[in-house]
Amino acid sequence: MDFSLTEEHLMIRDAARDFAKNELLPGVIERDTKQEFPAQQIKMMGELGFLGMMVDPKYGGGGMDTLSYAIAMEEISKIDASASVVMSVNNSLVCYGLEKYGTEEQKQKYLTKLATGEKLGAFCLSEPEAGSDATSQKTTAIDKGDNFILNGTKNWITNGGNADYYLVIAQTHKEKGHHGINALIVEKGWEGFEIGPKEDKLGIRGSDTHSLIFNDVKVPKENRIGEDGFGFKFAMKTLSGGRIGIASQALGIAAGAYDLAREYSKVRKAFGTEICNHQAIAFKLADMHTNIEAARHLVYKAAWDKDQGNNYDMSSAIAKLFASQVAMDTTVEAVQIHGGNGYVKEYHVERLMRDAKITQIYEGTSEIQKIVISRGLLRD
Ligand code: CAA
Repeated sequence: MDFSLTEEHLMIRDAARDFAKNELLPGVIERDTKQEFPAQQIKMMGELGFLGMMVDPKYGGGGMDTLSYAIAMEEISKIDASASVVMSVNNSLVCYGLEKYGTEEQKQKYLTKLATGEKLGAFCLSEPEAGSDATSQKTTAIDKGDNFILNGTKNWITNGGNADYYLVIAQTHKEKGHHGINALIVEKGWEGFEIGPKEDKLGIRGSDTHSLIFNDVKVPKENRIGEDGFGFKFAMKTLSGGRIGIASQALGIAAGAYDLAREYSKVRKAFGTEICNHQAIAFKLADMHTNIEAARHLVYKAAWDKDQGNNYDMSSAIAKLFASQVAMDTTVEAVQIHGGNGYVKEYHVERLMRDAKITQIYEGTSEIQKIVISRGLLRD
């Protein structure tokens, strides 16, 4: 088994690291405080190829493997988890879903613009009463000949205000349950499509999260993804890849907090020596590093499974479950190591601690990951 990264992976890591340090770090605290979307930085990320990393170059993407994407996600997330969730949703929920299941016309019309970052995408599954219980969709897409008529409300939609194209999951044939659900491509600005107010969040405050309201929105039939009734499976299959993105984000948040805590412990003095010389701190660093290494292995394994064409439903759920817990534990300890300074914005670790929490909630809560893992274990 070869654990080394290729030259290309190292180049991608360095490019993402430099971009994060030079373009995202300045202003990250201010954007968090003001809940300001990193519009300029996201535009640059598109130009640098970070928004469609795995998409075939013929559709404007980078043609890279999932491991490259995970590595870049880790680096961006070390500095700015708000920017990395925008990146994750666009790459793994929107571009991947369209490339894998869309028609050639849909790819030409939508994917080519999303992969280059010219346009931004959103994935709309959650509803006020259908978060974890995703089969209980209340949004309807009624078949009216050449169009679907879309009605309902979606909640907690990442990129909700800034996206241009929205993949919306909705119920067409209620009597068929989850076999009657469809996934539709909806464009911003279509009549009857309204963007609700922005959520005021605990963390990832630079990303924009909105509810979306659909009132008799006419969606052309050619904007359905896959066969009639494929929408729920589309969402589940796409989310398995999305969970690799969020696991990488959680890994990056943890690694970013660890780096800051280690550096701080080498300069901060107490009781006549740098605090890293106290075993109470040194052992914390050892635990943090060990957990991060374990999380990175799980993330890479899930990415490798996807790249090999193996089933990755379980490995992505395992990676997300573990890495998100590591993000939470590591950021709490990083604040602790910083003491009073850890509670102050300018030291960054309090923001990383707030950002970490969402990784245990979105793209399937930790409890949902345990359902996926345990069902996988007990199948057959
Ligand atoms: N691939 C393909 N099909 C799948 C699948 C997968 N990974 N997982 C489930 N399915 C299929 C099942 O086979 C089943 O189909 P059949 O009846 O034909 O066999 C169908 O989907 C329903 O599955 P279940 O019977 O298992 O449904 P369930 O209601 O018991 O639970 C669940 C399924 C796994 C709990 C699912 O509801 C789930 O994942 N919930 C969490 C939803 C989620 O992750 N939301 C995140 C929102 S997106 C987001 O956060 C993005 C963002 O902005 C950052």
